[in-house]
Amino acid sequence: MEVRLEEAADWSILYAIYSASFGQLAEADLVRNMHRDGDLILSLTAHADEPAGHVAYSRLILHDAPSVKGAVLAPLAVVPAFQRQGIGATLVRDGLMRLTDEGYDLVLVLGEPHYYGRFGFTPQLAEQVKTPYDGPYLQALALSAKGKDAHGSVTYAKAFAELE
Ligand SMILES: CC(C)(COP(=O)(O)OP(=O)(O)OC[C@H]1O[C@@H](n2cnc3c(N)ncnc32)[C@H](O)[C@@H]1OP(=O)(O)O)[C@@H](O)C(=O)NCCC(=O)NCCS
Repeated sequence: MEVRLEEAADWSILYAIYSASFGQLAEADLVRNMHRDGDLILSLTAHADEPAGHVAYSRLILHDAPSVKGAVLAPLAVVPAFQRQGIGATLVRDGLMRLTDEGYDLVLVLGEPHYYGRFGFTPQLAEQVKTPYDGPYLQALALSAKGKDAHGSVTYAKAFAELE
């Protein structure tokens, strides 16, 4: 199976992916609202025979380390028929490569450590920052030496606060 990645602009495709994988539209709304607010850094869709998955990365502000360029990975979804074939990993890794190329230092994610640990995310690094989502599911990945020194309070894209 060939997976093609492209920057997503088609909202109907995005809504179809999220309703199939989460059974709700809140995550697709989140992406659209981040786009509305100018907070979306990267929006990648994976296409197999049909749209198969999507990932978004949005801006993160580090108040106590303003020179650290931060991003948040969320949401991520692969439609059920295409799960466990490496599409989620391809989306995450491709996004991380693009962020590295663009000089980003740090990425935060909220999710299963078993899944995100394979990309190098750790809860330990996330403990250096203060977020509304602190706890064992919050993980961080440094994309540069500067990213390892990230600390203090952060602000997520406004759209996260609009989620119930
Ligand atoms: C989580 C998700 C994005 C993974 O995408 P994927 O393309 O199926 O995953 P990959 O093929 O890259 O990786 C497969 C691995 O993911 C693991 N995995 C899949 N879903 C998982 C989940 N919800 N929690 C933990 N691990 C999960 C599989 O067990 C497998 O692990 P293994 O390699 O140790 O066997 C996808 O299953 C999905 O969209 N699930 C529903 C929505 C969701 O829960 N999103 C999570 C966002 S934080």
